[in-house]
Amino acid sequence: MLELLDKNKLPKHIAIIMDGNGRWAKERGKDRLYGHQHGVLSVRDVVEGCAEIGIQYLTLYAFSTENWNRPENEVNALMELLVSTIRKEAETLQKNGVRLNVIGDIDTLPKQCIEELHEAIEMTSQNTRLNLVLALSYSAKWEILQACKKIANDVKNDTLHLDQINDNTFKQYLTTVNIPDPELLIRTSGEYRISNFLLYQIAYAELYFTNTHWPDFRKENLVEALLNYQNRERRFGKISEQLK
Ligand code: IPE
Ligand code: IPE
Ligand code: MG
Repeated sequence: MLELLDKNKLPKHIAIIMDGNGRWAKERGKDRLYGHQHGVLSVRDVVEGCAEIGIQYLTLYAFSTENWNRPENEVNALMELLVSTIRKEAETLQKNGVRLNVIGDIDTLPKQCIEELHEAIEMTSQNTRLNLVLALSYSAKWEILQACKKIANDVKNDTLHLDQINDNTFKQYLTTVNIPDPELLIRTSGEYRISNFLLYQIAYAELYFTNTHWPDFRKENLVEALLNYQNRERRFGKISEQLK
């Protein structure tokens, strides 16, 4: 199926809202954690798929600021799953040339998570094949607000002038600094919303929604999304004839 893709029309950056783990488990009469565990298999497959296809950046929404409000046992289970997954997968990332990074309010994560993440980030820091960005304790409103505070501070300290604030400078204050905006945003599990993800960066992203629950999402589903993306006309405000 990979051969159906136009190599000259690939997005540089794909962002995914991995949704539907709980419903997937419920459909099987299992508890929500079972769904999260299976979601890890999808992560592995999609990361591998992105590396094979030649995608440069993949951002996965793994835990939102709002997800802290879930029942305590689910939050704890998710944090433990995160630690064990990073520990298990770090070698594979390294072997496949994947560089790991995180965005979000990382200081709010349990100490063990932070340590495990730092280790994997450090270990994979020289890799160049695929940049895998995990959004953890992330929300776009948090990100934009912390950017505004830093900008206000820099203006106050005279290191930044009001007339220097434009799209490019603003981006330097976001957690996605040096990462190009995603051209394609995928959300699984049939919800048509953004849930506080990358609001600034997806201003012109193509949105793709699928009913497939995240634990069922595989490389083939990714290729399907990419084929759909490649059939779209991205006009950026212009008219069709101007793009020819
Ligand atoms: C996505 O699946 C994983 C996280 C948000 C951590 P959900 O846990 O949201 O699954 P549903 O949406 O309840 O089915
Ligand atoms: C969004 O999924 C967050 C992640 C995928 C990590 P949610 O399941 O938390 O989103 P809502 O609350 O249904 O919008
Ligand atoms: Mg959900």
